[in-house]
Amino acid sequence: MHFFGGQVARQVNEARERVAELLGADPSEIVFTSCGTESDNAAILGTLDSYLEKRHFITTRVEHPAVGNVSAYLSRKGYRVLELPVDREGVSTSTS
Ligand SMILES: Cc1ncc(COP(=O)(O)O)c(C=O)c1O
Repeated sequence: MHFFGGQVARQVNEARERVAELLGADPSEIVFTSCGTESDNAAILGTLDSYLEKRHFITTRVEHPAVGNVSAYLSRKGYRVLELPVDREGVSTSTS
């Protein structure tokens, strides 16, 4: 319908196919977002939307603040949020 939009759509779809090939994924599995924060939100909130009965979110204390913001949001929404401590290598030091 829109010439320039159609050109961009073709290029984005070509990029999607190339990324999918590099990752061994199906192009339908590749989702482009505008930034890291949007990716975090889409991944975490999108996944939780698929498991509405799950009310427990486990992450680590060293995640990017964008993830910490999602943790705080989920906590306000009544989720049980657990932020695991990690050692210098980023490995969880929690035993439980
Ligand atoms: C995991 C993670 N989330 C979010 C961001 C923030 O990205 P943006 O500034 O593109 O939203 C970064 C940046 O490095 C990141 O590593």
